[in-house]
Amino acid sequence: DTTVFKFYSDGEWKKSTSGKLVSIINPTTRKTQYKVQACTQEEVNKIIEAAKTAQKSWAKTPLWKRAELLHKAAAILKEHRAPIAECLVKEIAKPAKDAVTEVVRSGDLVSYCAEEGVRILGEGKFLVSDSFPGNERTKYCLTSKIPLGVVLAIPPFNYPVNLAVSKIAPALIAGNSIVLKPPTQGAVAALHMVHCFHLAGFPKGLVSCVTGKGSEIGDFLTMHPGVSCISFTGGDTGIAISKKAGMIPLQMELGGKDACIILEDGDLDLAAANIIKGGFSYSGQRCTAVKVILIMESVADTLVEKVKAKVAKLTVGPPEDDCDITPVVTESSANFIEGLVMDAKQKGATFCQEYKREGNLIWPLLLDNVRPDMRIAWEEPFGPVLPVIRINSIEEAIYHSNASNFGLQGCIFTRDINKAILISDAMETGTVQINSAPARGPDHFPFQGLKDSGIGSQGITNSINMMTKIKSTVINLP
Ligand code: G3H
Repeated sequence: DTTVFKFYSDGEWKKSTSGKLVSIINPTTRKTQYKVQACTQEEVNKIIEAAKTAQKSWAKTPLWKRAELLHKAAAILKEHRAPIAECLVKEIAKPAKDAVTEVVRSGDLVSYCAEEGVRILGEGKFLVSDSFPGNERTKYCLTSKIPLGVVLAIPPFNYPVNLAVSKIAPALIAGNSIVLKPPTQGAVAALHMVHCFHLAGFPKGLVSCVTGKGSEIGDFLTMHPGVSCISFTGGDTGIAISKKAGMIPLQMELGGKDACIILEDGDLDLAAANIIKGGFSYSGQRCTAVKVILIMESVADTLVEKVKAKVAKLTVGPPEDDCDITPVVTESSANFIEGLVMDAKQKGATFCQEYKREGNLIWPLLLDNVRPDMRIAWEEPFGPVLPVIRINSIEEAIYHSNASNFGLQGCIFTRDINKAILISDAMETGTVQINSAPARGPDHFPFQGLKDSGIGSQGITNSINMMTKIKSTVINLP
């Protein structure tokens, strides 16, 4: 059966001994598209054992050889862009062109990671003792970066390939092994990506991919004593993982409620274009999506009209047709979004378009005059619905942005760079974009969230560093 996929363990494709499968529902047809193995805890144990063994010799493999294999995997990944993109279209309803972009971006990320790893891991430090009071020059300290061991990578449904390789490639170049637990929606795209690493010829057991139900293997994986580091991207589950995980480094990127602040002197055409791109790309299902517009009252009518005109031009339909707005990932997600819309309706928000939904497909919606008592002012819809809150001062904008439990990114539109810097300093977010929508990329930029948006910093360089620890050797002179 071509729709049933095996999991990847110890360099081989296997069926689970559970005999059970997990269904992946196509968000557009709402019918089962693929099935993956429901792995058991015993299978997880075997994968982690193999990963521990493989890591030991991988850590001794010369850095340039590790880089060479990663470059090979990157090239194969790009060659396989079409079939992987097709999975993304079918599993997560990503528009066809964006699906290809995700795979190509992933190949570039893997290559960049190999290059960056060679540079930063090829360097250590040399310290002498007599710079610290009371010491003679009798000790030489040599430091280098060593791997952590087994890295557990858990990417989300919205970038099952890109946010998987953004964890896999830094882990591997740094000499770690990797256990990937893909999201259910996106698991087949992730398995196909893992196949590219298999074709590149990585040693057996170094890269594994375990599929299955979170309820069966989720906690078992994240609390497994064999795991030395967890890199997770997703929602609230990350908070639960961080509470349960042991004394290991954690890299977590969770939700966001990125504000777009527009001042009176902002370029309203530029702001409107960025609101469309930032708020509605992949139907708003990005952690870095613009999730609330904070607009000065004096220019609000003009801005809202400009955004409305652009919303009217968005195409709505199946991902195969490369529509701008495609069905959201699950029915429960669509129901959640609808709940936020109905709450706003009941509390008196102005609907700039009529609310329309067919199955998981929700038409793009701009809600004006949203007030703080509405859920949509604070919660992330992860869908094509965008609230507008009218403000009368910069302080009000900063207050609203900082009152959020999230702190991922934010953006400011103004022609006054001094004001922009002051607002950026005052915003409690990991990144602030001036005159552009929030975004994670380019993928070597640092990427981090404050508060409930995460722990640690990502981006290629930071991820490589995070997946290593410092080892010192001190030479004591006679
Ligand atoms: O969904 C979370 C991603 O990290 C956002 O990445 O800004 O490239 O869409 P992006």
